Amino acid sequence: MKVQPVRGTRDFYPEDMAFREWLLERWRQASRRAGFVEVDGPELEPLELYTDKSGPEIAEQLYWLDDKSGRRLALRPEFTPTLARMIAARQASLPEPVRWFNISRCFRYERAQRGRLREFFQWNVDLAGVEGEIADAECIAVAVDGLRGVGLTARDVEVRINDRRLLAALVRHLGVAEDRVPQVFGILDKRDKVPAETLGVMMAEAGLAAAQRQGLARILAWKDLADIDARELATPEVAAAAESLRRLFGFLAAYGIAEWCRFDIGVVRGLAYYTGPVWEVHDLGGEFRAIFGGGRYDRLLGELGAKAMPACGFGCGDAVLGLLLDDRGLRPALAAAAEFFVASAAGDNWTDILRVVRHLRGRGRATQFDLKGGSLKRQMKKAAEAAARYVVIVGDELSAAGAVTLRDMQSGEQRLVPLDALGG
Ligand code: HAM
Repeated sequence: MKVQPVRGTRDFYPEDMAFREWLLERWRQASRRAGFVEVDGPELEPLELYTDKSGPEIAEQLYWLDDKSGRRLALRPEFTPTLARMIAARQASLPEPVRWFNISRCFRYERAQRGRLREFFQWNVDLAGVEGEIADAECIAVAVDGLRGVGLTARDVEVRINDRRLLAALVRHLGVAEDRVPQVFGILDKRDKVPAETLGVMMAEAGLAAAQRQGLARILAWKDLADIDARELATPEVAAAAESLRRLFGFLAAYGIAEWCRFDIGVVRGLAYYTGPVWEVHDLGGEFRAIFGGGRYDRLLGELGAKAMPACGFGCGDAVLGLLLDDRGLRPALAAAAEFFVASAAGDNWTDILRVVRHLRGRGRATQFDLKGGSLKRQMKKAAEAAARYVVIVGDELSAAGAVTLRDMQSGEQRLVPLDALGG
């Protein structure tokens, strides 16, 4: 019986694993450069951690199960609720601000497509305890540093930034009732994913009159903060939100990343807990779904039993980033290379081979040899396949003089060296 892997999951063969490790290491480096420390939590969480806080979209995508004691558990679809739960549990003793990063395996029952899987890795960077836009800017700067770290530039991707307070105020200003705003946000979040007509139908079904739909279309056409017209700016909450965004863009300029960032009134984000600035990273070619998603969630911690604490952060998936790097020819060639390959000059001289192997491994050197033995020619072929930096050829000199032949595979140079001096 041939068993297929679960749809939307991946097997990581050596080359895939090498790329995954390379990418995760770049995420770690970018996080640490900005002073974030790594944390982790369980992959299993109580289901209600997500159903209440993350909103309907994630709730529909949850993988859940009943355990043997009848507890309903979910496989984590994202890390933010876990992070909030962890901070809430130790809030009194955690030094503020909390600067944590995490790399988690996440599960979402999504329609599997390019860059969207049912099991993926997500890089999270979160900052809790700072209210001002400087914290949002700090997170965006880490994201941009992470993008740079994998070789991307402002010509490949952009950070599209909005503020939910601004959009909410504008939508209310159109006469949409407060309790309808989340529904309108949910529809707007689908803007790039469904045809325009479908969006119109969804808006009408949500009870938006034709004039309100037109008003929304006018707002969504804005390309710059300066496009917000005077009539809208006369509303104090619109003016305050626009001012906050201006401060955020000022900080981003001071971080030297203005060219990566632009205002986009259409960014809403699908998750329910965001309360302020929200942002996504997209490829400029518009080929892929969002690479990063982040924003401010000032109420989530309070809702999880902690004292109110402002927080913001982002998540970035490995799958879509991998596709983008492939598209740009930026996937690194990552051959797993042996440092030393031990070969026998004549015959399967296992005792001598293993003496050298033991010596090198004992000194912490990555050392291989050909387990099938055979001619020196065959062993040299295997050494080349293993991309060995050095080949150690073991012959009669080992028992006679404690020496072996060391061949530098890059220069082709070969010399006799005492075994004791081998491997540093
Ligand atoms: P999110 O927008 O749901 O936000 O996910 C963030 C990123 O995770 C996406 O942009 C994408 O790269 C990746 N991702 C999400 N779903 C999938 C999937 N099914 N397959 C592959 N990759 C996926 C969050 O999860 C928030 N918790 C991020 C956050 C952290 N906000 C504040 N702190």
